[in-house]
Amino acid sequence: MSTSENSSQAPSLKPLGASHFLWRSLAVVVIVVCVATTFAYAGGWLSPGTLTPARFVNTLEQIGGKHPGYRRNHARGLGVNGYFESNGNGEQLSRSTIFRAGKMNVIGRFSLSGGDPHAPDKSSEVRGLGLQFTSPDGQVWRTAMINLPVFPVQTPEAFHDMLLASQPDPATGKPDPNAMQTFAQKHPDVAAAKKIIQQNPISTGFANTTFHGLNAFYFVNSAGKRTPVRWILQPEQSFVAPDPAATSPDPNFLFHDLADSIHHGSLRWRLKVIVGEPGDPTDNASVSWPASREQIELGTLVLDAVEQVQESPADKINFDPLTLPDGIEPSDDPLLSARSAVYSQSFTRRAGETRQHPSPSEIPQHQGNER
Ligand code: HEM
Repeated sequence: MSTSENSSQAPSLKPLGASHFLWRSLAVVVIVVCVATTFAYAGGWLSPGTLTPARFVNTLEQIGGKHPGYRRNHARGLGVNGYFESNGNGEQLSRSTIFRAGKMNVIGRFSLSGGDPHAPDKSSEVRGLGLQFTSPDGQVWRTAMINLPVFPVQTPEAFHDMLLASQPDPATGKPDPNAMQTFAQKHPDVAAAKKIIQQNPISTGFANTTFHGLNAFYFVNSAGKRTPVRWILQPEQSFVAPDPAATSPDPNFLFHDLADSIHHGSLRWRLKVIVGEPGDPTDNASVSWPASREQIELGTLVLDAVEQVQESPADKINFDPLTLPDGIEPSDDPLLSARSAVYSQSFTRRAGETRQHPSPSEIPQHQGNER
């Protein structure tokens, strides 16, 4: 078909009248304004008092400093690999294939709280463990757990207030006592959580730490029955309390000890669910459920390899607590959706940046069974 035939069949284009042109221009302006407003809303520019994910991450950057390419919280970390050996007990509560008896791959990341990837390790910092389970049929479950037995606060707003109040005063290097007092007055229920946290013994390292999932979820079984649960990881490595008089010359002793112990053999934890009963709060990670609640052991987590620095798959994972397989559902805990949105914001920022200096936590001193 020739070009002239094409043009002869094409509908003739009439020039736009003045009013048509105006309407079209107006429509374009409206679309541009709508898109800009959506971005401004997401960025929190339209609602200075509202706590948006962007504002939360800005606060984390303000406190921990800007460190391109690193997580805005739990910036120091070490990727590990291993497997989960499910014993099949979880099947009564959840239809997820993660809980079918058998072995599956796990990618993990041990971390310390805070936004500075170059800070020295301290025993008192919050220890984290992010895990990604992948079942043989491809179901994925991500969870990020910490060593505290309860979260200090119930809501994301309270956590944001706490971060601001407890940031060190540059003059003293310590939090401003007035800011802490104002925070405690505004959130009186924090005192009870603080008491539980202070009674929780801290161990010598990551290997003998108990990790708590804290947020409640629902396990849903194949009959559709929903059971409220929380989960914990109990180490098979024995608890040892740190010697208060001992000081390590190594500023990264926690990560180096971890890498060392994995090089000397695998580390093992038992994964247990705590089964909630009617009346147990599912929307408040700052309170414990009664100690008498049934605990069901689901299997054993075995971590047997340390990831190499530059090729760390764990580093590229966003351990979003709402990445759940069919058979696990979120509860009404307000921290869950906040965590998901804020982790995504942190992930998006770090994924678009280049790291300048590697974090010492990622450089194991001794080489061995890296993957
Ligand atoms: C509103 C409450 C919380 C906020 C805003 C928050 C914020 C963050 C952010 C921004 C990251 C870095 C995410 C990334 O770049 O991949 C992070 C990591 C982490 N968070 Fe939270 N967090 C909250 C609550 C919790 C709770 C309740 C737990 C434990 C139960 C927890 C455990 C962790 C762990 C273990 C990591 C490190 C995960 C990794 O290695 O990637 N966080 N958090």
